[in-house]
Amino acid sequence: MRQSIVLLPGDGIGPEVVAGARVVLEAVARRFGRELAFESCPVGGAALRQGLPPLPPATLAACQGAEGVLLGAVGDPAFDHLPSSERPEGGLLALRKGLRVYANLRPARIWPGCEGAGPLKPEVAKGSDLLIVRELTGGLYFGEPRGIDRAAGTAFNTMRYSVAEVERIARVAFDAAQRRRRLVTSVDKANVLETSQLWRTVVTRIARDYREVTLQHMYVDACAMALVTAPSRFDVILTENLFGDILSDEAAVISGSIGLLPSASIGDGPGLFEPVHGSAPDIAGRDIANPIGAIASVAMLLEHSLGAVEEARAIDAAIDRVLTDGHRTADLAGGGAHVSCSRMADLIAAAVT
Ligand code: IPM
Ligand code: MN
Repeated sequence: MRQSIVLLPGDGIGPEVVAGARVVLEAVARRFGRELAFESCPVGGAALRQGLPPLPPATLAACQGAEGVLLGAVGDPAFDHLPSSERPEGGLLALRKGLRVYANLRPARIWPGCEGAGPLKPEVAKGSDLLIVRELTGGLYFGEPRGIDRAAGTAFNTMRYSVAEVERIARVAFDAAQRRRRLVTSVDKANVLETSQLWRTVVTRIARDYREVTLQHMYVDACAMALVTAPSRFDVILTENLFGDILSDEAAVISGSIGLLPSASIGDGPGLFEPVHGSAPDIAGRDIANPIGAIASVAMLLEHSLGAVEEARAIDAAIDRVLTDGHRTADLAGGGAHVSCSRMADLIAAAVT
């Protein structure tokens, strides 16, 4: 049985890291006798440059019909002047909505030998292994009404959550915690926002179905501080869309480089998998990006969309081995010797056993 994977290379370093991730995915498929069919489609600035909208209807249709979707990155400063929905980023948001992937899983942990790579003291980062569960299709990103009232000189967005939206994302977080260290930290701003008060009430109610999981609540400002002062205290962080966007970039500091972080966006249909880093236009086209975030996203695709847990672990183990052997891309090398993006992908593909 052939399984179809749609590749959305997108903008900036997206094509480079997706190419690297594909090399590793093909190595795993060969090793485990899995048949994959790949299709590449334009999205974001890459689509705009072809005279297409940022999410061409044919791209959405291909993704909806696939088993899993791997996206590189979207974002291109050439289109910064356009209204939000016409920008490259608008394509990604429309894709998340179109695939109804309401749960975004962003794990952040220390990879072997990378303890000193980031700005955190090794003793602070040590032992950190957390999962951010970010609500992905609601909140300020999608709430209506929104707009710019030029005559009045104002702009506005709406933060809106329904009970059902909070319930389903809370269940994702509690289910994940049951497979981990059984602690959920729900992050909100309930001292100020009504949406957060609703969030807290619903999460507290859902927690009753998960007696073996401990729930704690934290304000987002306090969480932002704790993430860099005591990151190892967290297991699963459950939060709404915008807070999760901000906290997940911050969590990248724990692992040393945002280039290491994968993500999975899941819902009821095909999942969307993407590295957390953006398009990084400043280093695009130079074969120096870190492909590990994209490669670890492929592991999440195998696990969550293809049900191939053993293959997913084989990729994680290969990343571990290559990092343990001391290979580093420029972002992790601190000015020292480093390998290119494509070389790192080849090393990881060769380490898949
Ligand atoms: C992310 C990105 C996106 C977001 C942008 C590109 C729309 O920052 O995936 O975290 O804000 O969700
Ligand atoms: Mn972000």
